[in-house]
Amino acid sequence: MSNKKFTTASFLQSKANGDKITMLTAYDYSTAKLLDEAGIDSLLVGDSLGMVMLGYDNTLQVTVDDIIHHCKAVSRGAKRALIVADMPFLSYHISVEESVRNAGRMIQEANAHAVKLEGGEEVIDKVRAIIKAQIPVMGHLGLTPQSVNMMGGYKVQGKSEAQARKILDDALLLQEAGVFAIVLECVPEQLAKIISEKLEIPTIGIGAGKYCDGQILVTQDMFGMYSDMKPKFVKQYSQLGGVIKQGCEQYINETKAMTFPAPEHTFTIDEEIIKKLY
Ligand code: KIV
Repeated sequence: MSNKKFTTASFLQSKANGDKITMLTAYDYSTAKLLDEAGIDSLLVGDSLGMVMLGYDNTLQVTVDDIIHHCKAVSRGAKRALIVADMPFLSYHISVEESVRNAGRMIQEANAHAVKLEGGEEVIDKVRAIIKAQIPVMGHLGLTPQSVNMMGGYKVQGKSEAQARKILDDALLLQEAGVFAIVLECVPEQLAKIISEKLEIPTIGIGAGKYCDGQILVTQDMFGMYSDMKPKFVKQYSQLGGVIKQGCEQYINETKAMTFPAPEHTFTIDEEIIKKLY
């Protein structure tokens, strides 16, 4: 892995070279630093933070200020990865002007390099305006969690011909508008393959099979730190949840047994001084 910064141009170059692009979510300084040092290409400050960091039932309560707060921390931790800030619900739905202003805050205040927003034809005027303001945009099609109430739950999208065609058409429209990559979430592998073949820009899959040009996972899911929901597409690469609980139990036991703190964790002063204080 080279230390060269991963840019939006690197996304396109990776697809041209046949190099898979790796993305994960990050919401804080120390995790971003670890993932960046491990060589991740890009970090998404996703609105999934509403669920895995803030404990909401869905992503709909997340605000622009929430994303900015977490993105600032991530940008301090990551040196090489491209940082993408998620545009939360209602931040790009009301007007073109508001959308550009909110996207601009992600760059100016949060140090993001790009923004991501959900949807195709319905939001294309906002996508075009944000790109016109020189802000790179990543698209997001298929299962778009901000539409959970319209979709009637978190379900695989694009299984009927009409749905599959709409996702393909939206992908082509987003490419034509100038997005640099598109996340495909929870769509059948064969559909993701056709879209990836038809597009010049890369697709980043989550629950979309192995033919996408890159993959993304929610970090708390892949490290077993979030147990409220476990989608089929998640692979747990380690069980940090169990490790954290075990460490905490040991800390509780040692504190009660007074085996922690041990001498190596403790400061002392001259006993003569102490005697004078009694
Ligand atoms: O918010 C998020 O984490 C996302 C990914 C699941 C793509 O949008």
